[in-house]
Amino acid sequence: MKWTAEKIKNLKGLEKWSMVTAYDAISASWAESASISSILVGDSLGMTALGYENTLPVTMEEMLHHSAAVSRVVKNALIIADMPFMSYQASVEQGIENAGRFIKDSNTDAVKVEGGIFRVNLIHSLVQNGIPVLGHIGLTPQSIKEIGGYKVQGKNPSEYQSIIDDAKAVEEAGAFAVVLECIPSELSLKITDSLSIPTVGIGAGSFCDAQVLVISDLLGLSNKVCPKFVKKYINLFPSIQNAIQQFKIDVESGRFPSDEHNY
Ligand code: KIV
Repeated sequence: MKWTAEKIKNLKGLEKWSMVTAYDAISASWAESASISSILVGDSLGMTALGYENTLPVTMEEMLHHSAAVSRVVKNALIIADMPFMSYQASVEQGIENAGRFIKDSNTDAVKVEGGIFRVNLIHSLVQNGIPVLGHIGLTPQSIKEIGGYKVQGKNPSEYQSIIDDAKAVEEAGAFAVVLECIPSELSLKITDSLSIPTVGIGAGSFCDAQVLVISDLLGLSNKVCPKFVKKYINLFPSIQNAIQQFKIDVESGRFPSDEHNY
């Protein structure tokens, strides 16, 4: 059965749920086969799939291309496209136009935008125009140049209060759920308890209504060091490396292909 933004919103207080990122048909099919309820085509694809240093260079064209690949194979999970840096910051009109492209051209179900109080006009307009929105507050990677790096947010009293205000604003603007990234668990508990929409944690402790992880972190697909909040459910990098080395050795020694692989 197809997951919708409305269905996810209505899970508030009833049950916990999960989200993973996916960037192409193969990773989306892994997520779908595990019956995951929601898939985020995150702009983290900039680092995981495109080799950029951060999410800032990711373009609309790249996001549309990857989101369409995910949509082609996913039948049940809610597909959320992450709006890339500078695809919505210039104006509400720009944001509506680009969000519309995700729905029309890539067949996604919803979009995610970063930002709290200062993003409410866009969130409200998108929802009014029929586009479900996932909010994203706390550590917002598209603002790392301004924040000064990937740091836990909300540790001092003024940041703490402004993240609570952001959460409330995003809810009032009509988002169906909100990502809380890299904030103390005690703050995410307070926010989760005070909102009527689900919170989706990443580095925000166990009190959130849902959790999201980047699929390549969860699967250990790379040999890069992961942030503390990541749990690698399997470490595939060494096995993948070993399999490719075995292939190389077999080809170079004439062991592959053998009779069983020949026509
Ligand atoms: O781009 C992404 O993968 C994200 C999640 C980490 C929330 O924004």
